[in-house]
Amino acid sequence: MVQRGMTLVRVETSAGAYDVRVEVGALERAGQFVEAALGQRKIFVVADEAVWACQGERLAAGLEDADWTLLSIPLGETRKRLATVEELCQAMHRNGADRRSVVVAFGGGVAGDVGGFVAASYMRGIEFVQVPTTLLAQVDAAVGGKTGVNLASGKNLVGAFHQPALVLIDPQTLESLPDREYRAGLQEVVKHGVIRSPELFDYMERHRDAVLDRRPEAVEYMISASVRIKSAVVREDEREGGLRRILNFGHTLAHALEAETAYSRLLHGEAVGFGLVAAAKLSELRGRLSAGDRQRIETTVLAYATALSLDDLDPSCIVARIAGDKKSVGGRPRFVLAEAIGRVSEELDPPSAHVVEATAYALRAWLVRETQVV
Ligand SMILES: NC(=O)c1ccc[n+]([C@@H]2O[C@H](COP(=O)([O-])OP(=O)(O)OC[C@H]3O[C@@H](n4cnc5c(N)ncnc54)[C@H](O)[C@@H]3O)[C@@H](O)[C@H]2O)c1
Ligand SMILES: [Zn+2]
Repeated sequence: MVQRGMTLVRVETSAGAYDVRVEVGALERAGQFVEAALGQRKIFVVADEAVWACQGERLAAGLEDADWTLLSIPLGETRKRLATVEELCQAMHRNGADRRSVVVAFGGGVAGDVGGFVAASYMRGIEFVQVPTTLLAQVDAAVGGKTGVNLASGKNLVGAFHQPALVLIDPQTLESLPDREYRAGLQEVVKHGVIRSPELFDYMERHRDAVLDRRPEAVEYMISASVRIKSAVVREDEREGGLRRILNFGHTLAHALEAETAYSRLLHGEAVGFGLVAAAKLSELRGRLSAGDRQRIETTVLAYATALSLDDLDPSCIVARIAGDKKSVGGRPRFVLAEAIGRVSEELDPPSAHVVEATAYALRAWLVRETQVV
């Protein structure tokens, strides 16, 4: 079940197919892979400055024989906005970027979303390559073709679908990733198990130490299994007409919690962990999921969760945030619910008493988690 070495996943899209390559040492061979996918081109590396500081040397070695320019800027969530896109497009133009140039996005999900949107917009669209360096970006954000930025009034409100020509994932980049960021990414892996893969879920349940110690075989397995799941879902439903919505399992309440905490207290993946526990409880309350499977999901999520103080939050206030979610239909929230581990379905507008109860339940689970950790 657990493979080592290199994994290649071919992702089919309406704009053509591309490879996701998961390989230790991929950074040092980046130029070769980009040339194999796109031929010789001028490369613009849009890098998160903080990532460049700890991993840039390796990518620079990999691009030694290429014609490349570094655009390294701070790229936190607050920089994920149109002003940054303009700044980068201007820097590209000043440095001679043309229609045949390639953007290589190097960093976490922010670098991928911003770099991807720059590529989607510059001269009406040029090629781009994703080189994700957080677990969250490797298992989720880098695959699927969604790019974009935030507005002051909401997240990801301006963007484009723009498929990469190649995704290069080097698991070794995770060596410098802070623990909190790593754990946040693990919640998206657990989510993939719940929606589509009992095998991946079992792995997360049984191999906690290997996962938390970032043992190479565990990291490579989690990334390649997640990429396979996400790319299969996205292949069947590129623009989120139906199946792709299963990727939102746990996300309706995660987004509500992020909004309620003003996007400042939690990482996205941490909010997803909370959302998974709440969604599993809601699934049980709706008579779809057994208590046993709900408990397995909850125990696994909490094993990887960071301690968060959520005790000041009111479940009804969190639930009241759901109406503003992009995914609601005419103000009626749509929930992805679990039926078993590996199988989910949707329910439009479940009774709000159940949603509040599930939210209160998840808040209590974190309270217990917090007291255990101290
Ligand atoms: N396009 C999509 O489908 C999609 C899916 C999920 C999330 N996203 C977006 O992704 C963003 C979140 O991504 P993220 O969690 O990767 O956040 P991020 O890009 O902000 O990175 C998190 C932090 O880790 C640092 N970092 C990244 N890689 C590192 C490394 N290897 N070593 C040391 N430090 C490192 C970064 O500098 C940053 O401080 C959000 O904006 C979200 O909207 C997009
Ligand atoms: Zn997510």
